[in-house]
Amino acid sequence: MTDRKRILTGIRPTGALHLGHYAGALENWLRLQKEYECYFLIADYQVSDYADDIDTVREAVFEVALDWLGVGLDPEGSHFVIESMVPEHCELALLLSWYLPLGMLQRNPTLKSELQGVSDEGNNVAFFFYPVMQAANILMPMAHLVPVGEDQLPHIEMTRELARRFNRRFGETFPEPEGMVGRFPRLVGLDGQAKMSKSLDNAIWLKDDPETVKRKVMSMYTDPTRLRATDPGHVEGNPVFMYHDAFNPDVAEVDDLKERYRAGRVGDVEVKQKLAAALNAFLDPIRERRAAFAAKPERVKEALAEGSRQGKARAEQTMALVRERMRLEYLK
Ligand code: TRP
Repeated sequence: MTDRKRILTGIRPTGALHLGHYAGALENWLRLQKEYECYFLIADYQVSDYADDIDTVREAVFEVALDWLGVGLDPEGSHFVIESMVPEHCELALLLSWYLPLGMLQRNPTLKSELQGVSDEGNNVAFFFYPVMQAANILMPMAHLVPVGEDQLPHIEMTRELARRFNRRFGETFPEPEGMVGRFPRLVGLDGQAKMSKSLDNAIWLKDDPETVKRKVMSMYTDPTRLRATDPGHVEGNPVFMYHDAFNPDVAEVDDLKERYRAGRVGDVEVKQKLAAALNAFLDPIRERRAAFAAKPERVKEALAEGSRQGKARAEQTMALVRERMRLEYLK
């Protein structure tokens, strides 16, 4: 075991990953993977809304792993863990829930908004319980830092509270984990309406081919008040410029486009063409690495098997300690 501080973070395996995942979280994971000991979790216990579609989940486990490898996460230095290969998560979640007032879970703003609009008959208990499972994920390797998308922060706040309660009752056991969000915590979708997501069909996927990226960019929502290229345009709140800011490293080009856009001296087509070029330059090496791993599925499986084995070893240690602290070892 190393003495580096630890990261635990994760993603639900419901499909491949998009630019919003990258700007909101993955970018931080990449930046921090050498500095911290990292546990990257494929959170398949959290797919209770896909309970009747496990084929999608099975496929997505590999899609997520390929996207991780594609962006450059390194399974030699970090642990790629499949959550259900570490069933200790269930045990810790249940034990933590002893000390979690129902009201605290009911007040969790992210959970609240996710439950809204679905009847109590339409939601399952596992969905309601997922923030507790997430707290168990984070506390299991005694993580210090949790780089995530913005919507996950209430879960980290709850995890901190659970760690404090456990420590107060049973002695210092868990570090209080900090949350961290990316440069662009909520990247808008291609339609400019909401955050990028699969269900809204407004995403650019990390694995999209160059032609697809171009087509999607050219049909992006832009400044609706602008009818001609000579009309002064709005840069702020314009998704095309948000993506330029997030993914075009040529700051001088972006500044020049913004200035001309505001003055009515550049058309949307040029701004979009330059964005498509920047995105494709960004995605090229990701696509290349991803394809190389996709051609060697055994290596991907090996990474997941080894990471899960290490996650399990760590979990066994934590649970031994937790049971001892809680005095659950009745026969000892
Ligand atoms: N709930 C997270 C999401 O939907 C995924 C997740 C599961 C997670 N376990 C986690 C994130 C632990 C951070 C830490 O994106």
